[in-house]
Amino acid sequence: MKNTITMTDNSTSKSYEFNILSSTRGPNAVDISSFYSETGMFTYDNGFTSTASCKSNITFIDGGKGELRYRGIEIEELAHKHSYLEVCYLLLNSSLPNEQELKEFDLELRHRSLIHENLRHLFAAFPAGAHPMATLSAATAALSTFYYDHIVIANESGYQEMARRIIAKIPTLAAFAYRHSIGAPFIHPDIDRGYTENFLYMLRAYPGGKMHRGIDGEQKIKEIEVKALDTIFTLHADHEQNASTTTVRGVASTGAHPYVAISAGISALWGRAHGGANESVILQLEMIGSVENVDKYIAKAKDPNDEFRLMGFGHRVYKNFDPRAKILKGLQDQLKSELNLDSNLMEIAAKIEEIALNDEYFISRKLYPNIDFYSGVILTALGIPKSMFTPVFVIGRTVGWITQWIEFKKDTSMKIARPRQLYMGK
Ligand code: ACO
Repeated sequence: MKNTITMTDNSTSKSYEFNILSSTRGPNAVDISSFYSETGMFTYDNGFTSTASCKSNITFIDGGKGELRYRGIEIEELAHKHSYLEVCYLLLNSSLPNEQELKEFDLELRHRSLIHENLRHLFAAFPAGAHPMATLSAATAALSTFYYDHIVIANESGYQEMARRIIAKIPTLAAFAYRHSIGAPFIHPDIDRGYTENFLYMLRAYPGGKMHRGIDGEQKIKEIEVKALDTIFTLHADHEQNASTTTVRGVASTGAHPYVAISAGISALWGRAHGGANESVILQLEMIGSVENVDKYIAKAKDPNDEFRLMGFGHRVYKNFDPRAKILKGLQDQLKSELNLDSNLMEIAAKIEEIALNDEYFISRKLYPNIDFYSGVILTALGIPKSMFTPVFVIGRTVGWITQWIEFKKDTSMKIARPRQLYMGK
């Protein structure tokens, strides 16, 4: 049996044979790299719905089954049994850390979380109220000027240093972007706090490391809040060749600095068809306002002449429940008794989900809630403002982007990303 596929041009009856590349999981791929030279034609695939752009061994998704794995390990196991830092280590090193490795990794990230004072001054250049996503993307690009040496990386320790540096600094840049947007003084990272807690601290603290005072005294960051956010980071850590990761790889393919590639990934993530959906979901739930209005908005979402879409529904790859959404839904239920979750928004969301999952329009198009449908209610309960929802996604995803960047660089067969076009002009 030959592992090839034959295509016939019915206008000339000429046949062409292409090799099939075998995967270790999921669909195989047809190698069409010689298609143009052999046929004189391009292939056309709007939105890359059938095109694999690289070989990868980082993340696997089975969209039909609703399965997600990082380095072969199921997301459910990682979310329930491991911390976000363990997941970062796993993505970067292909195996989970032992106790000593985790300790060293954690300490290194704590030490690298500070940013250069000159970079801090950059924030002053942005207008009051600037959206944190714009500021974060710009500050991340600016980080490349401080670590220009990463433009050429000679060995594994160089890759690790570059990756650990950006993973450590992204929460600081995100928190500074937020504090600038509301005109609050910057709070520097605290060496005594772990990765996830530190981010909440930099968002919430008063100068001198003090926390908000309520009638009952200082409002400390609760362990359950840290655990919830840590799980959210894990669920966002990587998602194979999505729009922002493809952007990061595209920039990598030109030989640009890794942090500029991450900055481009942040910009690509911002749109509401991608990571920006988490902010849009809450805005939409607030706009719907009450359970009585849900039917009206479902009808709008189904109307082909109305541009309205249900935010947090649908996915290019998942044609079943997004496994990350399932975990978040469970987390939301778990937090109900311990944190102040907005019950009105949760009721509206539950009603939308109930109607959509039983409606022919959504069933026939396989439109299920995605990760962004549930994250907003939890982030709100953690006191994270809407403008910071997508920056939270950025913090979680930075490890995925940089791991994909490294994989791209190490694969010497990769070429510059340069698609062709079907010219329709004069
Ligand atoms: N509400 C209503 N209808 C929808 C929705 C939605 N959220 N999503 C898709 N559809 C419909 C489309 O109108 C289309 O219907 P048609 O066949 O009658 O024309 C059909 O479902 C297929 O939709 P496409 O846009 O072709 O699917 P695609 O794979 O290109 O888009 C996307 C996926 C962008 C996620 C889309 O479902 C969407 O816009 N969802 C809302 C935004 C969102 O939640 N984005 C977050 C995605 S997860 C992430 O990036 C982290």
